[in-house]
Amino acid sequence: MSVSTVTSTTSRWSALRLRQTAHLRDLCAETSFTTAHLVQPIFVVEGLAGSEAIPGLDGNYRFGIDPALDAIGADVAEGVRHFLLFAVPAKSSSIGYGAFAARVVDAIKRRFGKDIHLWVDICLCSSTDDGHCAISDANHRIDLDATLTALEAMTMRVADAGADGISPSDMMDGRTARLRGALDNGGHPSVPIMSYSTKFASRFYGPFRSAAGSAPRHGSREHYQIDVRSRTDAIGSSVRCANEGADLLMVKPGLTSLDLITPIREATGKLVGAYQVSGEYAGLCALGRAGLADFDAALIETWHVFRRAGAAYIITYGARRARSLGVPV
Ligand code: PBG
Repeated sequence: MSVSTVTSTTSRWSALRLRQTAHLRDLCAETSFTTAHLVQPIFVVEGLAGSEAIPGLDGNYRFGIDPALDAIGADVAEGVRHFLLFAVPAKSSSIGYGAFAARVVDAIKRRFGKDIHLWVDICLCSSTDDGHCAISDANHRIDLDATLTALEAMTMRVADAGADGISPSDMMDGRTARLRGALDNGGHPSVPIMSYSTKFASRFYGPFRSAAGSAPRHGSREHYQIDVRSRTDAIGSSVRCANEGADLLMVKPGLTSLDLITPIREATGKLVGAYQVSGEYAGLCALGRAGLADFDAALIETWHVFRRAGAAYIITYGARRARSLGVPV
């Protein structure tokens, strides 16, 4: 005789019963997170004395070095432990890829030491004249060797300056192996790589590009970032990064990549995070400003959804608000 299973229920309260009170909903909740799971991006701009609000990204600024240190101090007091640094060199900067970033890393680590984990975004788009993430020839064809050499130089400069981790976002083939090898051979075998391993060509990076001065001056990034219509390339890109030595993987943008988080974790055995990118965050800000949504509640909602989808960590412009919204430290 076969074992009988419940195939239907006649009770109209079967689902509603457990949703009735906050106590019951809390007992049934399957996702949770603390401020330790959130990463706060921070923009530091060469030659900037004060700070400038970033259009659309409420509560986020482009900082000169000193105000950046003050802001990080305030964030640490709010329980933020992970920061992702975007160092924006002056366009006239001739001091070499990563030299300004190294200066910022040095200043931050001198002040905060082991109180924070400082990830550094590794990319060329704030440095190249054309705003692209690669060095290209006159025909806009990527010079992969020159690009990887520049990414390696940037990586070694920030690692020597004390970066706690690096986070390559350029999407060049072979970069993770190249950077892992450089770190290993250059005295930094313990520095982890949190790779932008599945990064799509997306319309949701707009506010970031104005903040980082990295909007492409010609064309788009579609010749190196992943096409949103592709699932195989999207998962394969993370698999390659994992095989090349990435410690942590990432999907980006976050909300448009929810379906890929668990498949990537299962394919690689690595933790996968989600980057709630500038356009996603700015969209929530805009809804809130228009009185069409409760911004704070909507923000928390998205973080829970990232966790439910399997994200280990969340990079979000709202990390510094989390504690005030009731997220435990
Ligand atoms: C640089 C980089 C970008 C973002 C993170 N690193 C922009 C891009 O690829 O064009 C986007 C982050 C955001 O929108 O919040 N390569």
